[in-house]
Amino acid sequence: MGSLEIYDHISSVDLSKNQNIVKKRKMNTEEFLEEEEFDSNANNTKLSIEDRKQVFKRFYMKKDYVCLERINRRIVNILDGLQLHIGVFNSMEQKKIVQFIYELQNRGRNNELEEHTYSEPNKWMRGKGRVTIQFGCCYNYAVEKNGIPPGILPNGIVDPIPNLFKIMINRLITSLVLPISCVPDSCIINIYEPGDCIPPHIDSHDFIRPFCTVSFLSKCNIIFGHKIQIVGPGEFIGSASIPLPVGSVLVLNGNGANLAKHCIPAVSYKRISVTFRKMDKAKRPYNFKLDSKFQNIKSSDFSDAS
Ligand code: OGA
Ligand code: MN
Repeated sequence: MGSLEIYDHISSVDLSKNQNIVKKRKMNTEEFLEEEEFDSNANNTKLSIEDRKQVFKRFYMKKDYVCLERINRRIVNILDGLQLHIGVFNSMEQKKIVQFIYELQNRGRNNELEEHTYSEPNKWMRGKGRVTIQFGCCYNYAVEKNGIPPGILPNGIVDPIPNLFKIMINRLITSLVLPISCVPDSCIINIYEPGDCIPPHIDSHDFIRPFCTVSFLSKCNIIFGHKIQIVGPGEFIGSASIPLPVGSVLVLNGNGANLAKHCIPAVSYKRISVTFRKMDKAKRPYNFKLDSKFQNIKSSDFSDAS
């Protein structure tokens, strides 16, 4: 597996167009740094808050990645199109969102959500599955006994995207994390208990690119590779490992979404992620209703959601 190099390229080009976004991100980042300071005290590490500021100042907006692999005799950046945005959701907002997700989980357990919305894994060993809660559509990961391949279930009945998540979508669009052409109309919550993972995969082309994942509760690494080795239950080896801080948004596009596989190895601490994706129009479930608020969306239509 030919990992040559990973480095961060710092770019704030498109954000410089909008000073307000820059200011807001700075505020979110300050808060993030304060938490980092708390963390570093707890772990007795040597980095001072000033050191950390220097580190974080460099990429509090957006990071791009390079990981070169040789594929069919050509050197390719398998992470081309991947971006990490830090400071998009501040700690107060994260708390609110996580609280709401716990409420959803309770409703799911009590059978108060639509048929295909909530699912818990059948746990029989470490590294098996995680809780998922799906809105907008039901994605079926398994090949069915009757031969139906993985994909959006045309007849899957799920709840529509809840309001708080629409507010998150507003933020993703107004912060220029996702383009206006990709306003998500579906989302999936993954709740990982310690030991849970998501195995190597490429997200289905039933969803258009780019799409993104927001991280909550604890930091973990996401592994990328043209090929990812499965070395044990929940243990994977790829050519790039990218830390996902809480409150960050990872955007997958280009090679990072289509050529490289990705996975989350068994997590050490409880973690929640929310992945937002827009369906290919042809793959929308039969009962899908367009949300008028999200049709013909323009960034300027949004007042700030918080
Ligand atoms: C997914 C996925 C990553 C994560 O749901 O397809 O890759 O961080 N999730 O949970
Ligand atoms: Mn994925």
